[in-house]
This record gives sequence, structure tokens and C-alpha cells, in this order.
Amino acid sequence: MCGIIGYTGREAALPLILGGLERLEYRGYDSAGVALIEDGKLVVEKKVGKIRELVKSLWGKPYKGKTGIGHTRWATHGEPSTENAHPHTDSKEEFAVVHNGIVENYLELKRELEGEGVHFRSGTDTEVIAHLIARSYRGDLLDAVLEVVGRLRGAFAFAVITAHEPNRIVGVKQGSPLVVGIGEGENFLASDIPAILPYTRKIVTLSDGEVADITPDGVNIYDFHGNPVTKEVMEVPWDIISAEKSGFKHFMLKEIYEQPKAVGDTVRGLVSSGERPPFSLKEFRRALIIACGTSYHAGLIGKFWMEKLTGVPTEVVYASEFRYADYPVGEEDLIVAISQSGETIDTKFAVNYAKDKGARTLSVVNVVGSSIDRESDFTFHTHAGPEIGVAATKTFTAQLAALYYLASLEHDEGEKLLSELMKVPAKIEEALEKSEGVEKLADKYMKKKDFLYLGRYLSFPIALEGALKLKEISYIHAEGYPAGEMKHGPIALIDENMPVVVIAPQDRVHDKTLANIEEVRTRKGIVIGVGFEGDDKVEKLSTEFVGIPSVEEDFTPFVSVVPLQLLAYHIASKLGLDVDQPRNLAKTVTVE
Ligand code: G6P
Repeated sequence: MCGIIGYTGREAALPLILGGLERLEYRGYDSAGVALIEDGKLVVEKKVGKIRELVKSLWGKPYKGKTGIGHTRWATHGEPSTENAHPHTDSKEEFAVVHNGIVENYLELKRELEGEGVHFRSGTDTEVIAHLIARSYRGDLLDAVLEVVGRLRGAFAFAVITAHEPNRIVGVKQGSPLVVGIGEGENFLASDIPAILPYTRKIVTLSDGEVADITPDGVNIYDFHGNPVTKEVMEVPWDIISAEKSGFKHFMLKEIYEQPKAVGDTVRGLVSSGERPPFSLKEFRRALIIACGTSYHAGLIGKFWMEKLTGVPTEVVYASEFRYADYPVGEEDLIVAISQSGETIDTKFAVNYAKDKGARTLSVVNVVGSSIDRESDFTFHTHAGPEIGVAATKTFTAQLAALYYLASLEHDEGEKLLSELMKVPAKIEEALEKSEGVEKLADKYMKKKDFLYLGRYLSFPIALEGALKLKEISYIHAEGYPAGEMKHGPIALIDENMPVVVIAPQDRVHDKTLANIEEVRTRKGIVIGVGFEGDDKVEKLSTEFVGIPSVEEDFTPFVSVVPLQLLAYHIASKLGLDVDQPRNLAKTVTVE
């Protein structure tokens, strides 16, 4: 995980680096640091905690260096501490490295260096890179880096600067993301595009096995053998304004309210471009949807649509479970990878693995130019805009829109289905209006220690997603379960202290879900029923009732997830928790 950034140009590097780090903080936030070249010398400043702690520690320090690198960390090797925070330096403190990912053979390299008398100051895998580069340096940073990359194994991206060459940064990409930002008289390196969007929109996305050599006046890209590589410069269409909070208390709340737009833009983007994969879904013996976290829940819903509208048998697998199982996968399979970031390492590896086996890969990705976007045979982009809150919301409903679009493409009544899909944003808008009462429920139930979420058919993945949202940001234990399966275990948990959120839209299993609500009531559970407005049956059976607009069965997930997102949000916000950056989590998980 972790976020890295680098700047070399004519301005003081520090404010630009700190600004970029704040935008990268979603990638990890247990410690942060910067390294700058000040008057020909390397200075390093690090701090445990979020970026604001680092910023505070730098107040009053007149750094003017025009080349520097920065890092925000999510600990993998070595606890969060000042020693383990990046940048890491060599023994003479002439080289500084920031790194994202894991150097898998670091112990072997560390022993080798220790054998030569090198003293290590941290417990990280990163420090070996700094020592190795210092050892290989013979007057040219690029040459030293090229010598070292051949020794490293794992998935990583890193950037290095040296006091010997004050206007130069060398960046390496192998498995973890790294982009180059092209400015005028200044250039950037960063883990993702939004980090440097306020400074430039001209981006070069590096591929695995590439090295970027950056000075204020130019960028040269090489492969690991030092051969020059020609890359395309892309102009990014995003506007950074959409990454501000616009008056909302948290990004998550803003993003929940942006869902009508995210879904509308996604549907319009796909429909107007008439995007279609270069193959028919019906050629495949099955589709395998691969994803993690919230994207996995979108996949579970996509499966129902795929099977109903295309007839292609569809399975959904956690990416982290896919690669290391003996999953039979081959040319007859279509892999559908879903990822907001396009960088989740488990999903990316699953795509690479399936490709190697001959499967065709289609991805649903929000971040244009991300690894999964580039490595898939075909991509549907969700047009949700940057999502800053760690807990995914608008990208989830945008993914649903893209999956429904995919499933309806080859249906006889595809056009009709899509015109129905176009009406969904207005329904989400209504769901947001109708969910105003959810804040009061948050007041009432925020002290509860456990929640159960139940649903059947399309509402079961929504139960999982509702429970995930609550766990992630409020740290309250919550479990999502198929309502009909409750009687085989979780029913034992139900008593008068247990809030049970039941998602019960008027769909094919409505009567069955009502029966499940009865079962909860009989055990004195607190029923928070989510049903179509005017559904007296659900309302009567519920302790609390949340109305959602009535929609076609297929579209119920778009509206029923809204009150669940808001319930989790308000509970976490009222508990005074860091909604946008919950503990232990990160927005993009680039470790296995
Ligand atoms: C992390 C995030 C989740 C997200 C998951 C998958 O765990 O905190 O919100 O759903 O990664 O991310 P992706 O970018 O692949 O959708």
C-alpha cells in the first residue's frame, strides 16, 4: 500500500509534495515523511500519524529545496514508527527512497548488505533499496537504479533522489502503480493521478518494468535493461474541483449524495459511446466475476443480472481466493474484474493469471489508465469521478450501472432495458430524500454492539454491503446474511438488543422475506425494515421503517443501498469517528 510522490522543478517542492500527500492519504495514514535536496544536501523529515502531524512538525522550517519526494504509509513490514516511516536513506544519508509495495527478497538482500557492514535502522523492506543504490552508485542515479532493480523481487514502485544530483528523481514501477506528471519546467511522480491533478493534467502511466528518469526539463522512460521506451502522454479529463468537499462534513456523505450523478454519468457515458466488448458474451461457457470488498458485492448483484439477461452461467469469486485455488479457467471463460481503483493487487493478479490461462478479460474500473484498465482486454469505465472516502459508495452504484449495461447488451429488449436504467438516477435521488429519517435511527441505535443485515435474492448482496459499511467506518460488528439462511444459525443471536436491518423490496421473494421478518420479531429483535414506500406489510412488521421508492425488481439494489450507506455514515459521524479515513483501512490495497 502507501502513497508516493516526487517533484522536481523551479518551485519550492515541500508545499507541492505535502498537498499531493494529502490527496494520497487514502492509501495509508499511519506515518508520513518527505526528503528534500536543500543546498546540495539531503534532509529527511518524518512523523508518525497522519499527514497533518507531519505538516505541523514542519511549521516554521524554511525549506526551499526544489526537488523532493514524499510518502504516506500503511505499514506492512515494521510497525508504524518514525524509524520505519519513509523516506529511507543509505548509511551516509546521500540517497533517499520512498516505496509502495513489498520487496519479497528483502531479508536475503539485508543479510548480504549486513555482511558488508551496513547497519540497518528500520525494520522495513524499503531500506535495502537505499543501501543497494548507494552501493551501486558511480555518478549516475539512473545507472545505479537499473543495476539494483534486477535484484529486487515482488510488487513495488519507488522513487529515489540523491544529494549528488540535486535536480533528478528516478522512479521505478513493478507491480505497484506509478504515474508521471508532465509540467512546464517541472515534472512529477505519484502513485495516482489525483495526487498531482492540481499541478498538471498531462500524465504518462508507467507500465511494469519501466523506469522514469525525471528532471525539471524532461522525462525519459526506460525498460529495466536501460532501453528507451516511448510513451503516450494522456490529458486527464477529471476536474480537481470534484475532489473537494463542497460543504459536506465528510467526503463519504458528499459521495453518497453524488450517486444520482455517478450512475447517470456512467450510463450516459456507456450508452452514448455505444461501448461494446469486441466479443459476444454468449461465446463463453461461463463468466467469472472477480473483485474485492464493495466491488465484490457489486459482482454478486451482477451475477443475477448476467444469468437472467444473458443466460451465461456466472460465478463470483473473491480475487484473493482466486489465484491460489486451482480454479479451472481457460479460453472458454470470460473474466469480469471489478475494481474502483483498478489497482487492487489481488484483482490485478487474478486478471494476469486468467489472461495467462487464455481467458478473455473485461474490467469495470473507475480510474482511467489504472493497471487493471490497461491490462484487461476491454474496459467499461464507471464515470463516478474521484472517490476519496475510504468506504466505497458512489463507485458501488456506478459499478452496478456498468454491470447492468453489460448484461443487457445482447438482450433482445436491450434498448428498452437501458431506457429503464436511465431512469434509475432519479430514483436514487428520491431514495436520498426519503432517507432523511435515517439520521434519527443512528441516534437511537449508535450504541449497539452488533447488527444483523438480512436480505434475499438481489437484496442479499445489499445486506452484505450494508454490514460492510457499518463495520468499516463505525467499528460496530455487523453481519450480512441471506434472510432465508438465518434460521440455520444467526437466529440464535437475536434478542431484544439486536437491531436487524431487513431489506424487503417488493420483489419475487417479498413474501418469503416477510416471513423472515416475523421470525425476527418472534425473537424480540429490533426490526429496521427497508421497503417500498407504502408497503404496509413491511411497515407493520418493523420496529422502524425506512421507505425507498418503488422500482422494477432489477433496480432495487440501487435504491435500497442508499439508507444503509447513510445509516453507517450517521452512526460513525455521531460516534465522532474518522469517517473518511477509518482505522486500519486504505482505499487502495496494493498488498496481497
Ligand atoms: C479496499 C477499500 C474498499 C474497496 C476494496 C476494493 O478495501 O477500502 O472500499 O471496496 O478495497 O477496491 P477496488 O479499488 O478494487 O474496488
